[in-house]
Amino acid sequence: MAEKLFLEALDLNATKLFADEPTLGVTFPYVTHPSGQWDTLPASLSAGYRGENWSHGNWFCGFWVGLLIAAYLRTQDERYLNLARERMLLVAPRASDGNTHDIGFIFYPSAIALFHVTGDTQYADLAAQAADRLRRRLIMTPRGSYISAWGPLSDMRGRRSSAIDTMANLPLLYWAAQQKDDASFTLAGEAHALMTREAFIRPDNSTYHAIEYDIETGERARGFTFQGYADSSCWPRGQAWAIYGYTRTAEATGKRAYLDLAEQLADYFVGRTGPSLVPPWDFDDPAVPNTLIDTSASAIVASAFADMAALHPDPNKAAAWGQRARDILAVLCERHLARDDAHRGLLRHGCYSKPHNQGVDSAVMFGDFFFIEALCSVAMPGKLRATPKRLSKA
Ligand code: GLY
Repeated sequence: MAEKLFLEALDLNATKLFADEPTLGVTFPYVTHPSGQWDTLPASLSAGYRGENWSHGNWFCGFWVGLLIAAYLRTQDERYLNLARERMLLVAPRASDGNTHDIGFIFYPSAIALFHVTGDTQYADLAAQAADRLRRRLIMTPRGSYISAWGPLSDMRGRRSSAIDTMANLPLLYWAAQQKDDASFTLAGEAHALMTREAFIRPDNSTYHAIEYDIETGERARGFTFQGYADSSCWPRGQAWAIYGYTRTAEATGKRAYLDLAEQLADYFVGRTGPSLVPPWDFDDPAVPNTLIDTSASAIVASAFADMAALHPDPNKAAAWGQRARDILAVLCERHLARDDAHRGLLRHGCYSKPHNQGVDSAVMFGDFFFIEALCSVAMPGKLRATPKRLSKA
């Protein structure tokens, strides 16, 4: 039964992409507007500060390419692959973007997936260039090193900033380490993971969204939020990025401690989400349960749980995480799928940023991508990206 739902959702992805493609020109979908239509932006829009205000720019263009590749894998229709290649031409110039940690989000689902599926080395070269950019964002302090999140390193605000989302950008570095046989990429990613563990994770296993470091000492100068309810709250999507990133760090390093940490963070997420399997947009919004929800956070953890199931050396725990992934995906398919043609995108009820009133109660591009990534892991493992290898018991 669930299997049928999963395959239907993969088919819906293919159908909707094909209908949307001719409407987009050179822009990429981002969030759905209240009308149900996609709001779009060009791939070239980089992140930056406008006065004191930070803008993420277009960090989601690579997800669209990833969705096209998943549609090709599901349908075997070469037209999807051709569209993915064409779209990649628009995304490619961002490989030299020095403004953002989100370069991992841009190039992992696009160039790396294209390389995985076609073996065409031009995509590996592009992803390696992007990984080099991300590695260059490493800032050294006496307490450790972290990858700066927001802005060019020439801007002190950019140098000092770190965001929990970076954890989910690390797979670009881990891929490059393997591809280029250069362990320095993994060392950079792991250094960031270690410093994030110290600075972002609170004693109850909730996470800060963002940190400003004192660069001289490496101490946390302040923990704050950009898209959450309050500096002290737990923003579920941030928690989801952390779960995803520590799981991928366990895969890359082979170290059980990162899987254990991912499980602790996941227990917190699961415990506070409850039986609906979809969290509120912020766990600590006082209006919960009468507030917005964020299906994208559920999609991200579903993908992470599928990886945890593949990695876990304990068969009972592996089975439990695998079942959790399937349960979440079933709920997303049954209750949140945008089957109606008038509503574009796949997953309704995502929340990009409530404080900025952007993409609230919408389909959001990253929600759709991680939903499809998780469905691919469960329904066609190894096709979109390699299945993680089980860790040894030690
Ligand atoms: N910038 C990542 C996010 O909105 O989750």
